[in-house]
Parts: sequence; C-alpha cells; structure tokens
Amino acid sequence: MTDLTNTDAKDNAMIVDSMTPDAPDHNPEATEATDDAGIQKIYLKDYTPPSYSVEKVELDIKLFEDHATVDSVLTMKRQHPGDLVLLGQNMDLTAISINDKALKDGEYQLDEGQLTVSDAPDDAVVKISVRHEPQKNTELEGLYIAGEGDDVMFVTQCEPEGFRKITYYPDRPDVLSVFTTRLEAGKKFPTLLANGDLIESGEVEGDSNRHYAIWHDVSKKPSYLFACVFADLAVLEDSYTTIEGRDVKLQIYAKAYDIDKCHVAMQALKDSMHWDEENYGRAYDLDRYMIVAVSQFNMGAMENKGLNIFNTSCVLSSPETTTDARSFSVKSIIAHEYFHNWTGNRVTCRDWFQLCLKEGLTVYRDQSFSADHQSPAVQRIDDVSMLRAYQFTEDAGPLSHPPRPSSFVEINNFYTTTVYEKGAEVVRMLANTLGDEYRQGTDTYFDRYDGQAVTVEDWLSALSAEGKSVEHFIDWYTQPGTPEVSGHQSFELGKDNVGKLTVTLSQKTRQVEGYEAPKPLPIPVAAALFDRTSGELIEERLLMLEQESQDFVFDQVTTVVGIEPIVSVLRDFSAPVQMKYQYSEADLAFLLAHETNGFNQWQSAQALVNKILLQNNEPEVYLQAVKKAFLSLVQDDAMLAARILDIPAERELASAVNSDYQPSVMKQKRDLLKNNLAQFMAEDWQQVYSQLPIESYEDTPQARGKRALRNVVLDMALTAGIEEAHDWAYEQYQKASCMTERLGALSAMVNHEHPQKQAVLADFYERFNKEALVMDLWFSVQAGDENASVADIAALIERKDFDWGTPNRIRAVVGSFAAQPTKLWSKEGLETYIAVVQKLDETNPVLASRLLQTLSRWYTLAEPVRAEAKQQLQQLRRQVKSKNVTESLHTILKAG
Ligand code: TRP
Ligand code: ZN
Repeated sequence: MTDLTNTDAKDNAMIVDSMTPDAPDHNPEATEATDDAGIQKIYLKDYTPPSYSVEKVELDIKLFEDHATVDSVLTMKRQHPGDLVLLGQNMDLTAISINDKALKDGEYQLDEGQLTVSDAPDDAVVKISVRHEPQKNTELEGLYIAGEGDDVMFVTQCEPEGFRKITYYPDRPDVLSVFTTRLEAGKKFPTLLANGDLIESGEVEGDSNRHYAIWHDVSKKPSYLFACVFADLAVLEDSYTTIEGRDVKLQIYAKAYDIDKCHVAMQALKDSMHWDEENYGRAYDLDRYMIVAVSQFNMGAMENKGLNIFNTSCVLSSPETTTDARSFSVKSIIAHEYFHNWTGNRVTCRDWFQLCLKEGLTVYRDQSFSADHQSPAVQRIDDVSMLRAYQFTEDAGPLSHPPRPSSFVEINNFYTTTVYEKGAEVVRMLANTLGDEYRQGTDTYFDRYDGQAVTVEDWLSALSAEGKSVEHFIDWYTQPGTPEVSGHQSFELGKDNVGKLTVTLSQKTRQVEGYEAPKPLPIPVAAALFDRTSGELIEERLLMLEQESQDFVFDQVTTVVGIEPIVSVLRDFSAPVQMKYQYSEADLAFLLAHETNGFNQWQSAQALVNKILLQNNEPEVYLQAVKKAFLSLVQDDAMLAARILDIPAERELASAVNSDYQPSVMKQKRDLLKNNLAQFMAEDWQQVYSQLPIESYEDTPQARGKRALRNVVLDMALTAGIEEAHDWAYEQYQKASCMTERLGALSAMVNHEHPQKQAVLADFYERFNKEALVMDLWFSVQAGDENASVADIAALIERKDFDWGTPNRIRAVVGSFAAQPTKLWSKEGLETYIAVVQKLDETNPVLASRLLQTLSRWYTLAEPVRAEAKQQLQQLRRQVKSKNVTESLHTILKAG
C-alpha cells in the first residue's frame, strides 16, 4: 500500500503506467481545422459515414529478413456519394488496381497518409501491394519487431490507427469487414497466428525454408481488431464449453521459458467466460481464443478478435516471480480483454470520440469481476485511490477533458484515465441508478446493436428502453471537470425521540477553458443514517442530486435517545466527485468505528488524514480512531486492516493544491504523520507481526490479505524504529515463500537503510537476473528508494540493462521516479525526466507523450521550480518531432 512498494501499487490495468495521458480540447464551436500548434485537429461534429463499405478483405503478409510485403484484395461497395479513400502511412505503394485495371499516376492521389480515388466504380475490387520494414519499427504500432536474438518475434498493434501502417485501408472503426489472412515467413518462425480459425497451412511451393498459414475470421470487425503474429512460441492449452454448448479451444502462447507462468491467466480466462455468461448473459462466439505474450508492448493488452496480444507483465504470473497485486491485476486484465469481445468487438465504436463507450463499460465490467474475487470494499478502495491519484489530477489541469471529447489531434493521446476510469464511474452510476433494470438495459444494448458501430447516445438509449430514462447522464460524458459536492444536515426532534432530518447537498463544477458553462449533473449519492448512541444503521437511501442545490428530507427518523443521527454520504463512492460534507473530527471517528460499508470506513480515515495534512489539524483524534479500527479489523479482514492505514500518496495530496505547491513541505508533513502513527501503534506492530508467520503459499483473499498486512506492518515497525524489525525484515526476505513477501522485505530494507540493504539487492539480482519482469521490480525498488538522489535514478537510466526498447523497463524506473514529487520537481529531476521524454519522442511517441502528461500540473509548483519547469518544457518544444508529444506539450504549456 501507500509508500511500501510503489513498484507494486495497483497500476492502471489497461494503461500499464496509468501516468495521466491526455487530451486537449478547446472551443468546440471553432471551425478552423488546425489548432494554434498548427496541427490538424479532428472534430466529432464533422463525422461523416464512409462512402464505401468493405464486404471482405484478403491479406497476404510475407515476412522477409529485412522487410515485409502486404498484398491485399478489398471488395468494396459504394454506400454514399464521395471518393474512395484509403489510409496508409510509413510504407511504399508498389501496385494498385481496381477491378483488375492497374491505376495510372493521375488516376489516384497520394497525399500524406491518404490515398484517394475520385471516380471509382460503385463495386470496386481494389488490389494493393505495399512494402515496409517492420525490423526498423520501434514505435510498437503497426507490424513491429519485439525481442532480440533467439527471442525475436513480429507482432501487430492496430488500435487505434496502426492498421494503416500495415496496408492502405479505410482504417476507421465504422468500417467492418470479414478478414482472411495468409501469413508467410521463414521456418524459424513456426508460430503463425491471425484472427479466427486456421483453415490451411503448409510449406511454400518451391521454397522449403518457408511456410505459410491461412486464417479466416467469420465475424465482421473493424481493422483496429486485426492482429497477426510471427514467432517461435510454446503454447498452454485448455478448453471451455460455453453455455450455448460451443467447445472453445483456449490457447496461451508465450516463450517456452515462460509457459509455466500462464496458468493463472488460463484460470482467469475460464472464470471470465463463466462470469460474463452469468452476469451479462454473454457467451463466446468463436471456436478458438488465443492470447499471445509479448515483452515489448505500449499498453497492458489488446482485445484483437480471438487473438489478444498481452504485455508479458499482464499475463505471466507465478508465486515466485509475481506479487499478489500484480497477479490480481493479471486476472483483471485477462477479464477486461475477454469482456471486450462483447463490449467493443461485437458492439464497437462509430468513431474514436466514442472510445469510452467500449473502455468505460469494459473497465466497469472488469472491476465488477474483480470485486467478486476479493473483498468488495478493498476493490472499491483500490479503484477509487487510483481514480483520485490520476484522474482527479488530470481533470484538475490543462489536460482536462470529458470522457467523450469533441476534438483531438492525436487519438493515441486519448487513452486517458478520464476515458477509462471516469468512463467506468459513469457506467457504475448508470448501473446503480437503474438497479435491476440495468441488466435488461444491457441485454437491449447487445440485441439492438450487435454487429454495429455505435455511439454513447445509442448506449444511453438502450439502457433507457425499459422505462426509467437515463439519457440525461449524457452530460457526464460531455462535460469535463470533477464536480464538487458540499453538504450539511439539520435535525428537528419531534415526539417520542422521532425526528425529521434534512440533508442539503449542492454541486459545483469548475469551468474548464474552452467549454461551455458547466451544467448541474445527476449525482447519485448513496447515504445511510446511523444512530449516534447505539451506532446502529437506521436507514439507507439513494439521494439523487440533480439541481445545483437540493434538500433531502428523512421524515419520521426514530432515534434511541433523540440525538441527531449522523448521515454517511457517498457510500461506496457512488459518484466520481469531490465530497465536502460538513463532518467534525468526532463524526469521522464515529463513522470509522461504526460504518458497515468498508469503503466509507476507509474514507473516514482518509478524511481525517486530509484534515491533518491539508488543514493543519492535530493528529490525536485520527490516531485514536484509526488504531481502534485497525485492531477491530485485523482478525476478520487483514487486507482492509492494511488499507485503513493508508495515507494518501503525495501525488494525490498534490491534486488538491492549485498553487504554490511545495513538495518538500508536503512530504515532511506526510512523513511526520506516518511517523506519528508508527510510534503511536508501536506495540501493535510487534504483536500483529508475530501473529503473521510465513505460511506456505496460497492464492486466496485471506492469504493475500495476510501478506499485504505483514508487509505494511513491517514497514510501520521499521518506521517506528523498532530494533527487532531489522531481523524480521531480513528473515522475511530469506524465508519468503513468494514474491510478495520477498519484495515487501526488500523494499522495506531499501527504504529504511537496513545494514544488509546492498547485500539483499545483490542477492535479488543474482536470483532473478534472467527474469525480465522481476528485474523491472529490482529497478523500480531502487528508483523508488526514499534515500536515492536524482543522480542515483539517472544512474539507473544509464545502465546497459535499462532497455529503451522495452516500455516495462522504462516505466519501472520512470514511474517510481514520478511518484516522488520532491525529486521530480527539481532542476535536475526535470532535466532527467524530460531527457527521457525527448529520447522517446524519436523512437516511441505514444510512450513519450504519456510520460510527458505527468508534468501537466507544473504551473502549480512554487517558485523557483515553476519557472524552471516552464523553461525546460519550452526548450523541449523546440526539439520535439512527433505529433503525439507536440499536442501534449502544446496543451500543457497553455496552463500558467
Ligand atoms: N484497447 C486496449 C484495452 O484497453 C488498449 C490498448 C492496447 C491500446 N494497446 C494499445 C491503446 C495501443 C492505444 C494504443 O484493452
Ligand atoms: Zn480496454
């Protein structure tokens, strides 16, 4: 938790780094086609349907030593007046014909990224040949090379606009087609995979060194769901019989040395298939479901039809090499990609502005799946912590945008925590508002739109079909900013200890530049009344705040002795808002003790902490209350007990500060409070740790809870300066039954300057230097070392095994670095960080741009760092090459 292993902090499932990416957006009314950075901007309001459909597509992809060729046959049919337009980038066009007539120079136009034929026939069989060099493709988009030496493989990443780097095509999500793919390569790549079913394979005639495979996918899909793989992989196989009686072959492909780490993912896949049948009535629709593990990947994973491609970090898991947190997130990502088969693939997006239609819904679905596999309160705590640390930060700065933006320059910059996590919060509100009707609504959505490319409006209209309308929730999708809800209560006592309680709630959303004045939103506030004397829950109710301010009256409230009851609001975080309810410290201590909702219990502790760190309250009430709550939870729910001790991360605390932010002052306060707590409970650590002996490894919520708790307690004991804790740490490191225990001990020893610090780091290296994902942890622990200087972090970046081609390794270091504002926001810190962005700008713009987003709130820093940041960002601007980084930088520099 908190600062123990930021290595291991639950990361944004799909967006591996979860380092706030972006999106600008200003003046939706403006019609100029370029923004002030001089780059082409695309507007939602300009959407027009494609002039041609593609009835079917045949691809022939041949991989050679130093290049690849792609021959395609597109059977196209006119749907609307207009040119025949194909999109393509980074390749040579070697032949083009329509209906078997080669096109001559004047018969088509080839501009940047676009091939246009003006007078094409209504029925056009378009044949195209292209050539490109995937061996030189470092962007991890399109067809690219991953790994080196014996591990080399070639894979594709097409979402959102990578298919146009493979061949010319109407590469937009509203063009759906049936794909047949022939792959051909040397036999050193025995594994040739594409979407759908294998229909033929064999040796290439006249070349005994080469072979081919032909795959056919019966389902109609947009090009972003295309995938193919050329590799030498082992496979783990299993099967699943769907509720409809279909026998599905399940295959997970990985390097032979990793194949035994695929069992967790396989089980999670089967659990997901079952879960979707039970909870959404959705069964799988092909005979084969393949997953391929790749070590170089920009994100977590990709839901290509029947052929998911996964970052190794999101599919491989074994107790010895993978922490519990990571392993749990492997399961949730497997579920996420599987759930996309219905929410994303069968019902897809009309255009990329609708990205949250598939992502928000699918994240909500994977969060619900995960909540069925651990304490739901802990699941909610982790999801909300992440939302607050990243999405609230994004929404509080210049990158603020609504879940459905109305314009963009580079769509890759829109795979943001707002689209994913806030998008999921909106779906959660819809589900809670509809209650039992939600399931009928999603059934209608699937029945009505199966096989189509649709919009957020379509989604809301399907959900509203059963009676209760939720169409007014559209404003949540189109309005940026985190609403602030404030509230208070009053009580009139009548006869017999029965009274009338009034809760007043009001809302306000900041005006984001370039957007219309914010409207009041429908905000479901889950509330419960508690009797102050008995601590009993009196009544629960969902308060739907729809106006700027509203009174909610609880008539006839029966109390024990006539004392005003206390209302617990926003239970389970029922809406993604900043809640400012007027609670005293005593109120919060009461809720921490009596709330039956685990999330709100935790929230009460968080609110007490915020009063200390942001409003300079004294810590006494908090210390007493949190200790009591901890001790009462420790036996029954070890994981929740561990979370109760959370102190918000520096990054989350910073999102509440809008000017003159001094990271070192904030850190000092936070450290002081943590020390206070550690001292205050010193005896408890001793006792609890001794009751948590290392047991043989089990993957159950209870066992994971104990391990999480043991790590937190160890860190606290060392913080308290308990002498024996040094021995506990060393022993835990040596006797560890799994990576959670070993890494917990290692990072505690590193952060607390254990005498054996260097020895265990060396030992860890010795044990695991062949395991890339474990070495990521090794890098991460050191980059996150409390005692490391910026120079120490820079030295990690200089190492030969800091691999610039592997995003996992870069994130391991840069992510831990960025989680330490005192280091990041310094002259040297910024220089080091920005140098990484600049270097990646040339090789991997998607990643570079995402890393840059982390600096979006530079203008909130106190001088002299603020001026330093501005100057360095402006300097970067003069060097930048990619559209991705240009757009982000442009938006970021608009602030301040
Ligand atoms: N659709 C993927 C998911 O969330 C996200 C993704 C994977 C992605 N790879 C990408 C997005 C590359 C942009 C670029 O499940
Ligand atoms: Zn997704």
